[in-house]
Amino acid sequence: MEVSPRAALIIASLFEKATGQLLSQDRFWRIGTTLSPFCRARGIDSFDRLALTLERSSDPELSLDMIDALLNNETSFFRDAVVFSHIADQILPQIAANRQREKRIRVWSAACSTGQEAYSLAMLFAEQGDRWNGWKIEILGSDISRSAVQQARGGLYTQFEVQRGLPIRQLIAWFDPVLDQGWRAKPALTSVVTFTRHNLLGPPPAGGRFDLILCRNALLYFSPERRHQLLEGLSLALASDGALLLGAGETALGNSTRFISDPVAQTVYRAAAYTGLSNAA
Ligand SMILES: C[S@@+](CC[C@H](N)C(=O)[O-])C[C@H]1O[C@@H](n2cnc3c(N)ncnc32)[C@H](O)[C@@H]1O
Repeated sequence: MEVSPRAALIIASLFEKATGQLLSQDRFWRIGTTLSPFCRARGIDSFDRLALTLERSSDPELSLDMIDALLNNETSFFRDAVVFSHIADQILPQIAANRQREKRIRVWSAACSTGQEAYSLAMLFAEQGDRWNGWKIEILGSDISRSAVQQARGGLYTQFEVQRGLPIRQLIAWFDPVLDQGWRAKPALTSVVTFTRHNLLGPPPAGGRFDLILCRNALLYFSPERRHQLLEGLSLALASDGALLLGAGETALGNSTRFISDPVAQTVYRAAAYTGLSNAA
């Protein structure tokens, strides 16, 4: 199906309004490839008709579904394995030492897509059982995508999804097979993880500051202004001695003065106020 320039502009502006993500003209092709099957499945015969319905706001469900379809939800278990080793060996022991008195730890997997990142974190905790005995562990996964959050809550993954990044030993230990459907996360994982729909450009989730925030592979499609706004929000959500992890190709440098990159692990950031250092935006 052909996308007229007018329809593309309406769809891109609705997408930007809802998510803050830019769908620039050189990426308008994504509208055609992603939304053609979407329209066909709903009996919508042209992008102009889709745009008209969206413009009239006559079908809010359609608009939410369309936004979900345009989002890039690419993720996998233990994505960037070296990052998870660093969390397990360096970051978690440090948090454990700092929170010895409270014995409470809060972790936020922001823009978690379908939840693999949050469950990977839950497995790290479960596998360090002795260290966390008697602790209250809270892992919050959040994403703007309604369908992604729904899948994350169910904790059910296809064979294809578990084959991406999840070693067989951990699959057997932490997931139960579900006939003809795949694998479901066991209560040992689901009991420490909750999921919510959340826009990174809005106020941080309630419940107090987080000791560790992962916000990986989400900054890419935001404008510099939005990135700045998003990092301001993350700085308000992070405990003063907490750690923020961004994706491999992402940086807070030049986007925020609130964070200092860890000299050893480049994608790990600390609050600038905590380190006493500053960083030019
Ligand atoms: C490529 S996935 C990354 C998932 C995971 N963090 C990882 O690294 O594997 C990017 C996620 O960002 C989410 N996202 C995009 N804009 C968002 C926003 N404004 N607020 C919250 N999540 C958003 C998308 O829905 C998508 O699930």
